[in-house]
Amino acid sequence: MSVAVVTGGARGIGAGVAKRLRADGHRVAVLDVDTAGAEGDAVVHCDVADEESVATAFDTVVAELGEPAIVVNNAGFARDQPLTDMSLSDWDAVVDVCLRGAFLTTRLVAPFMKAAGFGRIVNISSTSALGDPERVQYVSAKSGLNGFTKAAALELGPYGVTVNAVAPGFTVTNMTVRSAARRGRTLEEHVRITAEASPVRRAGHPEDIAHAVSFFTSEGAGYVTGQVLYVAGAPLG
Ligand code: NAI
Repeated sequence: MSVAVVTGGARGIGAGVAKRLRADGHRVAVLDVDTAGAEGDAVVHCDVADEESVATAFDTVVAELGEPAIVVNNAGFARDQPLTDMSLSDWDAVVDVCLRGAFLTTRLVAPFMKAAGFGRIVNISSTSALGDPERVQYVSAKSGLNGFTKAAALELGPYGVTVNAVAPGFTVTNMTVRSAARRGRTLEEHVRITAEASPVRRAGHPEDIAHAVSFFTSEGAGYVTGQVLYVAGAPLG
């Protein structure tokens, strides 16, 4: 049993991951800017893009549960706009939460994990890392996160710390409610149309992503690092 931290764990994929890691026997701290409805052994307010907020949140986790051996960098969002209309503040907001956030948490926990000789870091990337129109900041941040995963895996591997990424495809959450609205579809229509086009003929759910995270965080996965696993109902990557 380990202490696990899930960022953005109050809802959606993060909540699914937190639930699964608790079922796996871990004590889970959920870190989120909006903690409403969050369920965990500790629920801590945190803006992952803010250095001080991350430091304070991890102090709380260590005090309440102990030093984390597992961190899932899941907090993230997209703001869809054509490149030419994208404001600098929207670029910064998306890159900061998706990429800077993973750097801030990893830099903070790596010393604990190195000292313990064990750690599991999982970054939630996206199929968008492979390219997606009107999302240039999100695509850049997620493909950056894939590179970050590989670089951190090389540095932390000698200390028993693995770093991997799970890259979800279409997964039904609040984020997809917004994607449906942007296309003028109800969520039900959007799920049906996306599922029909999928090789596995269904949409993804947070449990699908949580299953992959559970594998990467398991003790037996110590020989797997620097990987990006597309959980998308299709052969990608
Ligand atoms: P969601 O919008 O349902 O949940 C995101 C959570 O992150 C929320 O609880 C939100 O409050 C939190 N959050 C946002 N900014 C934060 C910050 N600065 N600090 C701490 N917490 C923050 O979204 P969803 O779909 O669950 O997304 C989770 C992750 O999965 C994101 O990284 C997203 O990019 C990724 N993803 C989602 C896909 C989907 O189809 N839903 C597909 C591919 C990737």
